[in-house]
Order: sequence, then C-alpha cells, then structure tokens
Amino acid sequence: MQSEINPWSANQSIDTDKLFTEFGIEPIEPLLPEIRNSPTFMRRGIVIGHRDYRPIVDAMNNGTPFHVLTGFMPSGHPHLGHLMVMKEVAWHVQQGGNGYVAVADREAHAVRNISWDKCNEYGREYLTCLYALGYEGDTYYQSTNNRLKDLAFEAAIKMNFSDLQAIYGFGQETALAHAMSVATQVADILFPQADIGPAPTIVPVGIDQDPHIRLTRDVAHKLRFFTVEKRDGYVSVRSKNAPEEALAAVHKAFPGSKKYEGHVDIKGGNLPEVDATVRTIEIEYGGFGFYSPSATYHYFMQGLQGGKMSSSAPESFIGFCDTEKAVKKKIMGALTGGRMTLEEQKKLGGEPDKCSVYLLNLFHMVEDDDELTEICRACKAGELMCGTCKKATYERVKEFLSDFKEKMDEAEHKVDER
Ligand code: TRP
Ligand code: SF4
Repeated sequence: MQSEINPWSANQSIDTDKLFTEFGIEPIEPLLPEIRNSPTFMRRGIVIGHRDYRPIVDAMNNGTPFHVLTGFMPSGHPHLGHLMVMKEVAWHVQQGGNGYVAVADREAHAVRNISWDKCNEYGREYLTCLYALGYEGDTYYQSTNNRLKDLAFEAAIKMNFSDLQAIYGFGQETALAHAMSVATQVADILFPQADIGPAPTIVPVGIDQDPHIRLTRDVAHKLRFFTVEKRDGYVSVRSKNAPEEALAAVHKAFPGSKKYEGHVDIKGGNLPEVDATVRTIEIEYGGFGFYSPSATYHYFMQGLQGGKMSSSAPESFIGFCDTEKAVKKKIMGALTGGRMTLEEQKKLGGEPDKCSVYLLNLFHMVEDDDELTEICRACKAGELMCGTCKKATYERVKEFLSDFKEKMDEAEHKVDER
C-alpha cells in the first residue's frame, strides 16, 4: 500500500482519525499526565501523535540517556512554520536529551535543486534560529558529515527499490539522488546512536515525515544482530544476522544460559539487563545495537491565506527577517474564521478553529492558557471582531520578532564556533 502521506507533496490535508487507525500513530494525550512540566505544544494538542514515545517519557522521568534529533531542509529562509520543531528539539534537550540537528542540504540540492551556496546560507539561518531559542547540542550539514554518509550506505543495504516504491511511490523515473537523500535521512535519524551509543531517540517532526520514520524503524530493526524477547520464565536471544562468535559471546556473558542453533535462552533472565548486555556485545562484534527511533508528530500551522505555509509563497508565512510593514500587511490580510458581515459575526460568533490568526496565537504568540481561552471564547461569542483581534495579534508578533531578532544577533557567532 502506498502511503497517503507524501513528504514532498504540497497537499497537507490529513485526516487525523486515519492516522490513528490506519497508520498506527498513537495519540499523545494518554501520556500527558506522565510528562513533567509538559510544554504548551503538547498541552494544546499541537503535537497530536507519536510512535513509541513511551521510552522517551521513561528516560526523561528516570534521568537515563536519550537522544533527540531532527533535520531541516534548507530550501528557503526559515519562518514561523519551522518554529514548532525547533522548540521541540530545544525542549527535549532541556529535559536531558543529547541534541542533534541535521541541515538536510543533500535533500535540498537533490530534490529541490537548491545550489550548495544557497543551502549553506539558509542552513546558517536555521541554525541561528535554533541557537536563538537556546538550543545546545550538535549540528551538522549532511554533505560534510562523512560518518553520516558511511552510515547512509550501511542503511541502504537494508533498503530496496520495492520498499521505496511502496513507501514513497518512487518509480522508474525517480532520480537516484532522491533515493540517496532518503538513505541519508535514515542515517540522520540513526546518527546519534552511531555517534555516542545506542539509546532511545526522539525525532520531532511534522506529520508529513512519518514515512521516513517508518522506514527508519524498519531499517534499524533489520540492522540488529539479535532480537531479545521475554518468554515464559526465560529471556530468548535470537540471532537474526549475528556472526557465530557474537552468539557465543552472549552465551558466555550469561552463566547458566543454554545455547542452541541460532539462539540462546537465559533462564530467569531480566529483560532490560539482557537487552543492554546484548547491545554491548553487538557493538563489540561490529553491529550497531540500534533502538528503533521514536517520533512525535505535530500539526502544521495553517498558512495565512489558508492552505499550507510554504517557503515558495511568502504571503503564506511570517519570516524571521520580515520587516514590520510586511508582517502587518500579512496579518491584516490574513484569512480568518470571521463571518461575512459584522452583524453576522456578532450574532453567530467567529470560527477560531478555521482561523489562521487564531492558530498563530495558539501555536506561538499566546503562552498563557487563560488568555488564549479568553480569545477563543470572545471570538465564538461574537464579542471579539477580527479587525481588533488581528491588530492585537500583530502587536504580539511584532514584539516576538523584535525580541527574537535580537536573540538571533546574539547567537550568530555560535554558528561559526560549532
Ligand atoms: N526531510 C526533512 C524535511 O523535508 C528534513 C530532514 C532531513 C529531517 N533529515 C531529517 C527531518 C531527519 C527529521 C529527521 O524537512
Ligand atoms: Fe480569528 Fe480573531 Fe476573527 Fe476570531 S476574532 S475569527 S480568532 S481573527
């Protein structure tokens, strides 16, 4: 089945029920009570779903190691549509994660035809924004990270054309470089574990990136030497493609274990302990011991004209370097959830759920939950009119941007020092 989620298409109308029922993405809500100081983006349902977020919640709560990685394609200037993922990465680092950010210049060059110079320039802007948000951690460009490229090659051993066709709809005419940029993204997602060791890895992304996550989870699994499973009264370590000596080493590591053709059984074994030892052995014998990566998925902030925020349509987004005048024009001209006439709006109220201005506030401009609830209430009650609301929103955005630009200036040197 070819996925209906296509990372390179402009169509982002996604049916959330389908995500949960057909694609196996789980809602984030049931996990919320366990997430300490849960951030705005989770409380407000901007991050709607996840795959395998549980190990990350456990790692945050237990203070055990985990990684956080995401990537940005430098196909244009960064804008408010990219801020969500940036905040998510910075937040996970604050919660103890080892941070990694990839500038996906190989993808931008191969898929979007962006010159290497432009990739470099846009990439710098993305990184500056991240540092302005207080991000601390590793950053790299795909094109200059040789270990990444080696890992992409290794990952590509476990990928074939029919996978790519099934997942992305690639066909006979698809450029090989496009496929290579997919392998590179798989490597991005696995890179932190190859770099400093296996640990659960959270990849905050927009929902459009799910196909990459599924592919990477599959590749990570295929690259494992062993599967480790709890059985009745024992733990079974089964070789998938482990060298014989590695299986022998597992047997030796657990006195009293029994070795059979292709598997070792450890009576009374403790799953997490066996798992950890097996990963260490896997690495000793040339494997990776990867955990399958976890992901959180957020909604896209609707463009100011409705539809998608797109780097190629400047009126659809607010850029970090837009002038005040341009920002004002965009907000005052934005598509709202208001009615045709003032009378109607007073009578029926507005529709904040459909309003790009409301979403701007919900995503980034109003931190205080009570304040946001009040805007929503007043809008629905027909007490708040769009003109007033847009002006107030513009004031917030203006202040946000002037503060953010200052932080960007202060942070710029970090891009050179990394
Ligand atoms: N493909 C992503 C995009 O279009 C960018 C990206 C590259 C990425 N490598 C990544 C995202 C790794 C998450 C993780 O924006
Ligand atoms: Fe949107 Fe504000 Fe108008 Fe409500 S009042 S529809 S939130 S612009």
